[in-house]
Amino acid sequence: MRKPLIAGNWKMHKTRDEALQFIYAVANDLPSRQYVDTVICPQAPVLRDLVKRQGEQLRIGAQTMHEATEGAYTGEVSAALLENIGVDYVIIGHSERREHFAETDDAVNRKLHQAFRYDLTPILCIGEKLEEREGNRTEDVVAKQLDIALKGLGKDQVERLVIAYEPIWAIGTGKTATVEQAEETIAFIRRRVKETYDEAVSEQVRILYGGSVNPENLPAMLKTANIDGALIGGASLNAKDFLTMADAALKR
Ligand code: PGA
Repeated sequence: MRKPLIAGNWKMHKTRDEALQFIYAVANDLPSRQYVDTVICPQAPVLRDLVKRQGEQLRIGAQTMHEATEGAYTGEVSAALLENIGVDYVIIGHSERREHFAETDDAVNRKLHQAFRYDLTPILCIGEKLEEREGNRTEDVVAKQLDIALKGLGKDQVERLVIAYEPIWAIGTGKTATVEQAEETIAFIRRRVKETYDEAVSEQVRILYGGSVNPENLPAMLKTANIDGALIGGASLNAKDFLTMADAALKR
C-alpha cells in the first residue's frame, strides 16, 4: 500500500509572518507521518524558517532548484543548499517553470539526477495543454515528458520519486479534471513506469493529481486505485483547508 501524500505548492504567496502563522495553525492537527505524508513548498527565503518549525508530521519542499552543483547562476538555488538546510522535497518541472522560465524536458531530467544526488525527494510535474487534450494527444504528451524525465534513473530512485500529473488547463482555473480523466491518465503513467522498469517499481512510485484540487473534490480522487494524493496550489494557502485535505487522505 502506497502512503498518500498531500503537498501544498504556495507559489509566490505568503510573507514570512503569514507562512509562520500557517505552520503554527496546522502543527498540532496534521495526521501522523506513519499514515500520510504532508509537505509544504514555500518561497525559498522562508524554507529554513519552516524547516525549523516543521514538527513531527510536516515536511518542507522547495518549488524548484538548479541542476548544477554550484556556479555562476545568479538567483538560482542549489540542491546542496536545500539538503544542507533540511529540506526534504523539491518540485521539478512545474508547468509554470516550463512556461515562464523555459525549463525543458532535458533540464528536468538533469534536475532529477541532481536532486537524488542530494537525497531530496523530487515531485516531478507532467501534464498536457488544453489543445493537446482536445486533440486526443494527452497520452503521447505525458509519455514523452515522462520518458525524457526518467532517462538514466535507476529503479531505486524511481521507487522514491513522486510524480504529479497536472493537466495545465486545470491549474489555477477552477476547472478540475474529472475523477475519470485523472485516474485514466495516472493509470497510464503507472503502466508506462511498469513498461520502462518493472511492476515492483510501478507499484511503489507515488502519483499525485494536481489542478484546482480543493477540500470538496479531493475525497473522490483519493478513492481511485491509482491516485495517491495531490499537489495543491490555491487551496493549500488556507490552513483549515490544508488540514481538511490531509484528513481526507487519512480517511480514504
Ligand atoms: P492549483 O495549482 O491547485 O491552484 O490549480 C496546482 C499546481 O500548480 O500545482
